[in-house]
Amino acid sequence: MNSDTQLSLFNESNFNQKDLIPTDAKIPIPSGTYTSLTELTPHCQNCHRCELGENRTHAVVGRGNPQAKIMIIGEGPGQNEDETGLPFVGKSGQLLDKILASVNLSTEHDVYICNIVKCRPPENRVPTPEEMAACKPYLLEQIRLVDPKIILLTGATAVKGITGNKQGITKIRGQWIDWEGRLCMPIFHPSYLLRNSSREKGSPKWLMWQDIQAVKAKYDEVTG
Ligand code: URA
Repeated sequence: MNSDTQLSLFNESNFNQKDLIPTDAKIPIPSGTYTSLTELTPHCQNCHRCELGENRTHAVVGRGNPQAKIMIIGEGPGQNEDETGLPFVGKSGQLLDKILASVNLSTEHDVYICNIVKCRPPENRVPTPEEMAACKPYLLEQIRLVDPKIILLTGATAVKGITGNKQGITKIRGQWIDWEGRLCMPIFHPSYLLRNSSREKGSPKWLMWQDIQAVKAKYDEVTG
C-alpha cells in the first residue's frame, strides 16, 4: 500500500485508526489515537515505521506504574531489554532502581519508565533522528496517557528526542525545564555512571545524588 493510500485510509472518518499503523513514518499518529497503554502496546509490537522493527525480538514499551507522577525516559532498549520486552532491566536499569530507592522511590509504584525508541538499535548505537521521529508519536501518547507531573530525561539522546535541545548532558543536567507544561529534568544516563565510578564531590555520581534529591523534593511538593 503506498503512502498516499495509507494517509487517505488513516484520515477516513469512518475508519478505525487503531486498525492500521501507518508504516510510512511521515504519516503522524494523531494525539488521542489510544485510550490506554494496553491499546498502544500491540501497535508497537507490530510497528514497522522504521527499520529497527526488522530485527527486534520485542518492542519495549514501558514498565512501572501507568499512573505514576514521575516518568523516566531513556534512549532505547539494549540486549536485555530486547530479550525481555521491558525497559531498563540490565545493569543500567539495576543502578537506576537503586538511585530511585535511595530517595524512597519505587520503580514499580512511583515511576513509569520508557524510551525514546521502542526497538533496539543494532550494536546499541544511538538512534537516528529518523528513527526517533518515527517512534515519537508513541512516546507522546505515553506521556499523554500517563500524564506525569515530572519527566526525567536520562542522557543527551532523551533530551534531544523530547525537547530538540542538542546541548551536552553535563551542561544541562540538574536544571528544571518546562516542556509542554510539564516539569522536566535532564539527568545523567545510568550507563554513564557505570563507567564513572568515583563518588567524589563534583563527580557524575555525586551530581546524580544532588539531582535525585532535587527530584524527590519536587515530587513531595507536587504530590502534597
Ligand atoms: N538504556 C536505555 O536508555 N534504555 C533501556 O531501556 C536500557 C538501557
